[in-house]
Amino acid sequence: MKETAYKTQWKYLIDRLENEHDLTDEELKAVLLCDAPGFDEYISGKARKVREAYYGKDVYLRGLIEISNICRNNCYYCGIRSGNTNCERYRLSKEQILSCCDIGYELGFRTFVMQGGEDPFYTDELIVSIIRDIKDKYPDCAVTLSLGEFEKESYQKFFDAGADRYLLRHETADKAHYEMLHPAEMSFERRMQCLRDLKEIGYQVGCGMMVGSPYQTTEHLVEDLRFLQEFRPEMVGIGPFIPHHDTQFADHPAGTVDMTLRLLSVIRLILPDVLLPATTALGTIDPRGREKGILAGANVVMPNLSPSDVRGKYLLYDNKICTGDEAAECIRCMAMRIASVGYETVVARGDHAGFGTK
Ligand code: SAM
Ligand code: FES
Repeated sequence: MKETAYKTQWKYLIDRLENEHDLTDEELKAVLLCDAPGFDEYISGKARKVREAYYGKDVYLRGLIEISNICRNNCYYCGIRSGNTNCERYRLSKEQILSCCDIGYELGFRTFVMQGGEDPFYTDELIVSIIRDIKDKYPDCAVTLSLGEFEKESYQKFFDAGADRYLLRHETADKAHYEMLHPAEMSFERRMQCLRDLKEIGYQVGCGMMVGSPYQTTEHLVEDLRFLQEFRPEMVGIGPFIPHHDTQFADHPAGTVDMTLRLLSVIRLILPDVLLPATTALGTIDPRGREKGILAGANVVMPNLSPSDVRGKYLLYDNKICTGDEAAECIRCMAMRIASVGYETVVARGDHAGFGTK
């Protein structure tokens, strides 16, 4: 189809994406760039129909515990990168993490996500013992890790200790673009190898990218979609890039709500049963961003379970929301927001449709 034809035949493209979960690169690009009136309503309607076929109106909750803002890496976009001397550092003890889980369990969370910088304080043994303690106490809960890059042996130990899922965004599927966002010590190949290792071990794996990251083009996003289609992750975390004032990308514009929502819908149509969060970053650039994300096909939200005295320190980007609230307040607010758009937060592990409990 010629470019002008896309302008009039966009419904046909979306229908094909829904039915075949695939389009050519040129067609995907046309879908990302289409400005026809009615386009967003149509694609988000399709995305909701598909998510409801797999997950009904359920929205899964993940309790996010930000265990440390100490990181050996220096990703250029990230507010807690090692080179940021203005960042006030903290790390949570094992006892503090377990106490977050106690509070979270009472509130109805059945997945705990431990996320943090690559902080060498957390040895393999310590991570294993934290996972074991959580699983012993709460065998009905899933544990998700989002702690960055490790050797395959370490990922295996965490899995054997009971970790169920691992989130490691690929950030961009284009090597040259990856190198613009990261210092030379960080390697695109290693990132991809980590993702393959995680999958081979048997985790439910999440990857993803920032939308509107510096130097990102529509072609890069098409490469990202192609990567998602080939890698077939169980989860995809996407959110807008938001500048942080203490990074070299401080003056770069943030990604947009519209492009993030459109990508959520496209990803839902490419990977119909994927677990897709409406992220905090989306809620940061638009006060109703997470609700809009759910309406675009997302089916997961990740309220903050970190102790309130450290929340204001885990600042990946400027103006992050929910930094002052207590966990109980966060979950109440989230349940209300989700109900306001006709969906329901549920007390469930919320595994990928293709996975059972371990
Ligand atoms: N260290 C772990 C890792 O590398 O996967 C987990 C923490 S890392 C901060 C989690 C994610 O935050 C990154 O994968 C990145 O996509 C996102 N992030 C970092 N800086 C951001 C920014 N300025 N705007 C939006 N998202 C950002
Ligand atoms: Fe390590 Fe951001 S640079 S978490």
